[in-house]
Amino acid sequence: MNVFIAGGTSGIGYALARHYLSKGYGVGICGRDLTKIPENDSKDIKAFQTDVCDINALLSTLQSFLVDKNELDIFINCAGSYAEDVAGRISYEEAEEMLQTNILGTVNFFEAARKVMKNQKKGRIAVIASVSGILEYENSSLYTKTKRSVIQIADAYHRALKPFGISVTTIAPGYIDTEKLRQLNQNNLSKKPFLTEVETAVSIISEAIEKQKKLIIFPTKMKWMMKSLSLLPSSLLNIIMFRKAQWMKND
Ligand SMILES: NC(=O)c1ccc[n+]([C@@H]2O[C@H](COP(=O)([O-])OP(=O)(O)OC[C@H]3O[C@@H](n4cnc5c(N)ncnc54)[C@H](OP(=O)(O)O)[C@@H]3O)[C@@H](O)[C@H]2O)c1
Repeated sequence: MNVFIAGGTSGIGYALARHYLSKGYGVGICGRDLTKIPENDSKDIKAFQTDVCDINALLSTLQSFLVDKNELDIFINCAGSYAEDVAGRISYEEAEEMLQTNILGTVNFFEAARKVMKNQKKGRIAVIASVSGILEYENSSLYTKTKRSVIQIADAYHRALKPFGISVTTIAPGYIDTEKLRQLNQNNLSKKPFLTEVETAVSIISEAIEKQKKLIIFPTKMKWMMKSLSLLPSSLLNIIMFRKAQWMKND
C-alpha cells in the first residue's frame, strides 16, 4: 500500500506519515520546508519540497513518488495555514497565504488526486478541514471561512470522484495538541476545550479513511457541542461565538 501526505513535514501530517510507516506502507510527504523532518526519518519517508499552491509541482511530485510503485492507495491533504483573527485584523500577507494554501491548495490536491487515481478506479482521499468550519456565523475568522470552504470543496469532489471508485473523507477536528497550535497560543492551551493528543487524532483519522467515512467530526464532545449550537437562532449563535472569541483572546 502507498500513501502520500501533502503537508506532512510536521504536526498531524507527519504523525500520520509515521503511523503508515509503522504499518509497512510506502510513505511520501511534501511541504515547503523539509528541514522540519527529524533526521532519522528522512531515509524511510520519501520527502519532497513542494508547495500545494503549485499544481504542476504537485503533479510531478506524485509522479516521482509513484515511479517505482503501481498505485496510490491513500492521498491525504494536511497542508494548512492559520492566522487567528477576523478579516481586517490580520495582515494582507497572512490573508493571502491562508486563502492560497487552504482554498487553492485544496483544489490542487483534489485535481492532482483525480488525475492520478482516476485510471486506477480506486483510491482513498482525505482532507483536513476543521470543526470551526462546521458552523455558519457572522464573526468567524477568515481561517474558519477557509475551512468551511474546504468542507464544501470536498463535498463537490466527493460526488465527482465516486463514479471512479474513489472515496473522499473530510476530517473536521477540534483542537489537536500540535507544535503549531502551541506556537500560535504562546504554549498556553488552557483555553482550548476538549484538546486531543496527536496520536489519538491519528488513530481516529486513519480509521475514518479506512472505513471511507464521508465526514468525521471529533472529539465527540466537540461534535455534540457543535450540533447543539447549530440548533440556535443565528442571532444568539453570533453573540455566543463572539463572546467565546473575546474570552479566548482575553479581550
Ligand atoms: N492543530 C489543530 O488544533 C488543528 C485543528 C483543526 C484543524 N487543523 C488543521 O490540520 C492541518 C495540520 O495542522 P497542524 O496543527 O498539524 O499544523 P502544522 O504542523 O503547521 O502542519 C501544517 C503542514 O502543512 C504544510 N504546509 C503549509 N503550507 C503549505 C503549502 N503551501 N504547501 C505544502 N505544504 C504546506 C506545513 O509544512 P511546511 O511548513 O514545510 O510547508 C506542515 O507540514 C492544518 O490544515 C490545520 O488547519 C489543525
